[in-house]
Amino acid sequence: MKLKLHINNVIKDAFFRAGIEHEPMSVSESTKAEFGDFQFNGAMALSKKLGKNPREIAGDIIESLDLSGIISKAEIAGPGFINLWINPLWISEQCQAAVNDERLSIAKTETPIRVVVDYSGPNMAKQMHVGHLRSTIIGDTLANLLTFLGDEVIRQNHIGDWGTQFGMLIAYLEEIGEDGSVSLKDLEQFYKDAKGRFDADAAFADKAREYVVKIQSGDRHCLELWQKFIDISLGHCEDIYEKLSVKLTREDVRAESFYNDDLSKVVEDLAANGTLQESNGAQCVFLEGDEVPVIVQKGDGGYLYATTDLAALRYRAQTLQAKRISYVVDARQAGHFKQVFRVAKESGFVPEDVNLEHVGFGTMMDKSGKPFKTRDGGTVKLIDLLDEAVVKAKEAIKNKGDYTSDEIETLAKIIGIGAVKYADLSINRESNYIFNWDKMLSFEGNTSLYMQYAYARIQSIFRKYDGEIKGEIIISDVLEHRLAVMLLRFEDVLTRAATDTSPNQITTYLHDLVTLFMRFYEQNPILRSDVDEKIKMSRLQLADLTAKTIKQGLELLGIEVVNKL
Ligand code: ARG
Repeated sequence: MKLKLHINNVIKDAFFRAGIEHEPMSVSESTKAEFGDFQFNGAMALSKKLGKNPREIAGDIIESLDLSGIISKAEIAGPGFINLWINPLWISEQCQAAVNDERLSIAKTETPIRVVVDYSGPNMAKQMHVGHLRSTIIGDTLANLLTFLGDEVIRQNHIGDWGTQFGMLIAYLEEIGEDGSVSLKDLEQFYKDAKGRFDADAAFADKAREYVVKIQSGDRHCLELWQKFIDISLGHCEDIYEKLSVKLTREDVRAESFYNDDLSKVVEDLAANGTLQESNGAQCVFLEGDEVPVIVQKGDGGYLYATTDLAALRYRAQTLQAKRISYVVDARQAGHFKQVFRVAKESGFVPEDVNLEHVGFGTMMDKSGKPFKTRDGGTVKLIDLLDEAVVKAKEAIKNKGDYTSDEIETLAKIIGIGAVKYADLSINRESNYIFNWDKMLSFEGNTSLYMQYAYARIQSIFRKYDGEIKGEIIISDVLEHRLAVMLLRFEDVLTRAATDTSPNQITTYLHDLVTLFMRFYEQNPILRSDVDEKIKMSRLQLADLTAKTIKQGLELLGIEVVNKL
């Protein structure tokens, strides 16, 4: 239900009737209950244009306002604000429709586009780190959200599987022989050991360099070793995806190596365009206004991160025919993306009408505000972090009810992983983010547990009530009114979150919704014997719609709900 659009249309209609020949600005959600459900604040801006005072204009608008449909009451406030109340009957009808609809009355876009979401992108030579966690979670949410709203989403995992370090790694893999997969369990250590050999033994170093060339020229033996290395390393990432219930699969992998054959073409085409300039032996694109050029080929003939991204951009725009390409990558790569996007557009690799966006995110910090590290200063292994989340979740819930040990296992996974994901998604994506176990595993505040708990609580109402649910939703007091309007705002929130690529708009909404529901539930008993049957039915359905909304919201964030908590 596009709530805001409906209200805006009522205002538009009033403008038309009042003979105001201007496009009205959009209404906004009221900040306080006494200001109604929505506010129209456009009268002030019209004052100059119409040569009238704003309160007078507001009066004209209200006089022409249809108060028999969606809006039932309007008031002028302050210098010319218009406070609007939505008709409770209309709200009832809309909530009724939503609770009976699988998609909660949320439409699929009438103008779907094909979107590429580039996320996760771990490097095969190294362990996945916390930065990749953020990319993976935010990217997956964006992909879920756009899919739900009707776009055609193509997930792309641009893994780093190419570069000179692989010569050393496969030479070492070959050297240690068959149990490569065992020692590769700890990629960090494997890398260190390989580097140790590289630094200590000149013959090994030569071999490593030779293997770099051999992989690039397609040598069978070296490519096989390389493939084996990638398979094991990617397998580690997939373990993490599984733990996170992230939907990336092998089919979504378009690795850096995938673009290998295109790299020379990229350089040739840029040269043919006349965009290329030589500088210190390297092939560069100088962009007007930018001090540093984009280097696409080094003096020794090697290609760079930017060259691969240009090839990927061309593939996504021309082969995949995407109209929106979103890169969920660390904010510190902003400069890189700004430049390659410009080169891609200016050289015609990507048509003008394709929307290229860098969805940047901040750094994960520890409690003291330093970049996240282990106690001895090493990088935190993601897999350890997720396992720790499950252990901590067990502690958080073990005294909360009598669960069997199986139940605890399942619950702890859902809750622990959910807490990590929710904490990440609930902050403004561009801010640095302070990782705090106690905060994220709290039953209070803007946490996944708070939402999951509310959901489970509603389910317990339905376990107690085993009768049939019939009758209609009736809005009988102010709290119900506010809860119902909040429920109807869901689609507006999702659409906005998708446009701004900000999952935290969803979490903020869920938090507001649940807080409101908890107040409603405290003051408006549902199953108590003295509650009128019609009111009971109505409240049951409002509770049901709330639960469905929480579930849908969390599902888009890739977080599960539980029926009992
Ligand atoms: N592998 C890169 C990193 O770890 C991320 C890749 C992002 N995607 C891209 N098309 N550049 O920083």
